[in-house]
Amino acid sequence: MCGIVGYIGKRDVAPLLLEGLQRLEYRGYDSAGVVITGPKAAGLKMVKAKGRVRDLEAKVPARFKGTTGIAHTRWATHGAPSDENAHPHMSGDNKVAVVHNGIIDNADDLRAKLTADGVEFLSETDTEVLVHLVARSQADTLEEKVREALRLIEGTYGIAVLHADFSDRIVVARNGSPVVLGIGEKEMFVASDVAALVSHTRQVVTLDDGEMATIKADDFRTYTTSGTRTTANPTTVEWEAESYDMGGHDTYMHKEISEQPDAVDRVLRGRIDDRFSTVHLGGLNLDAREARTIRRIKILGCGTSYHAGLIGAGLIEELARIPADAEPASEFRYRNPVVDPDTLYIAVSQSGETYDVLAAVQELKRKGARVLGVVNVVGSAIARETDGGVYVHAGPEVCVVSTKCFTNTVTAFALLALHLGRIRDLSVADGKRVIEGLRRLPGQIQEILKQEDEIKKLAKRYADAKSMMFIGRVRGYPVALEASLKLKEISYIHAEAYPASELKHGPLALIEPSLPTVAIIPDDDLLEKNRAALEEIKARSGQILAVAHQEQEKADHTIVVPKNEPELDSILMGIPLQIFAYHTALALGRDIDKPRNLAKSVTVE
Ligand code: G6P
Repeated sequence: MCGIVGYIGKRDVAPLLLEGLQRLEYRGYDSAGVVITGPKAAGLKMVKAKGRVRDLEAKVPARFKGTTGIAHTRWATHGAPSDENAHPHMSGDNKVAVVHNGIIDNADDLRAKLTADGVEFLSETDTEVLVHLVARSQADTLEEKVREALRLIEGTYGIAVLHADFSDRIVVARNGSPVVLGIGEKEMFVASDVAALVSHTRQVVTLDDGEMATIKADDFRTYTTSGTRTTANPTTVEWEAESYDMGGHDTYMHKEISEQPDAVDRVLRGRIDDRFSTVHLGGLNLDAREARTIRRIKILGCGTSYHAGLIGAGLIEELARIPADAEPASEFRYRNPVVDPDTLYIAVSQSGETYDVLAAVQELKRKGARVLGVVNVVGSAIARETDGGVYVHAGPEVCVVSTKCFTNTVTAFALLALHLGRIRDLSVADGKRVIEGLRRLPGQIQEILKQEDEIKKLAKRYADAKSMMFIGRVRGYPVALEASLKLKEISYIHAEAYPASELKHGPLALIEPSLPTVAIIPDDDLLEKNRAALEEIKARSGQILAVAHQEQEKADHTIVVPKNEPELDSILMGIPLQIFAYHTALALGRDIDKPRNLAKSVTVE
């Protein structure tokens, strides 16, 4: 989704902003723009381009010099992708420029009023109303001008504002869309995502909703939208700038798939307590007495994180015997859910910024519920809104589709389930067994990664399928859901997932030689039932690719994965199918890291 980057200091600003925009490319966008100024620059200078950051770079003139500027990657919401609709937007007198993430809900009304007053609009965007409101304010300071404009708008925003008459500062504000300040040596940065900052500074201040900031080259201050000063607590970003590089891989997805052994090692590190066969989760803020009073657990997430939540719910039921289920946060928040005081809610999000998840958390908190987070990005909005939680420590994930974060999130759920289980009825022996299983995961993932060449051959074989079916039972079903999502997201092959038990209630009608089925078949107590499903498919001449713990006679091909403890097998069985989706998309020549129409973080509704 949209990205913001800004800089104020002594350096040549345009290359810095363009580099920042490149670092935000992964979020998904369709156009980009940059506006700059500086002590020697006369007024504001702006360049915008539909397409990629490199298209923008090509349009930047040689003499585009300044020391202050803001830039943006846009994901179209109001108005098609075009040069005009790209941000920044500028006032008619070329004095005010704004970049904006989010959606202004009352933009149409404001536009009508401004137009009636004679304001000429140059774009179809909602953002442009904000520019005119700032430009028309009679207030003496830029801060007050922005504040006056924000009082008139309804909706969500992360904004950065530049004014030719106040070129010693950038004013930023946040309401529902992330804004992070980066503190440098006699220079300051601003961005919507730390990815754009970490190559320059790791000292950051994350704004809260309703907060604004003024950044100058050697100073910054934060305050509320009503003007009251707030205390900014700088924190250090853990992630190294190098973690955002491709590190010798052709794509981020490939890099992130192959990082999984290390990533899983990190989510386990320092948390296992062998003495009591349990785990310590320092940030949970839930003591044993409280944990015993939980009657239900409801997990909320979107996309891949929702699928991780489904596996998490299964793990919690199995290990802690607490009734648990997962639901897309986007659905939950709109159905006026019954919020039960004995239910523990868990919000799952890689980015910690997904709007639907955040909105669900806020609604739950308003109703007095206890909400925990299972989140990757430290200090993100969801991490801060929740009462406690578990960080998944996957490191930055750049590819739009999630791989290592999924695996780490599911592993984090295994830790949480074990922790709750050991407070309740899980025996020491079972706790020990699960811990040993967890310790085996990184090595077993490594073994799966070694099968890449064979999986690649299989992917090539199936790449011409128009549609694919994914099936699994109980523990295998969420794995099938996630594997089917992965395939459709990056290869654009239609794929759907069904519980294997439901085949005969409908989807069997689709089975024929041209519709291959991927079957998740762990060696558990449902093995025979799963084999029966394969028989049903074979009887209709369907092709079968099995992911199993042993060769499946009925399948045309089997990817054999190492066996762990039955509760943990789902963590491993999805990994070969990430590789499968990757090589299918590669064989079809897709833009793997940035699939069409998708964004990494969906920070709007
Ligand atoms: C987008 C991404 C998905 C991701 C989902 C939830 O739709 O394309 O890959 O699973 O958002 O993101 P989150 O950051 O909340 O896990």
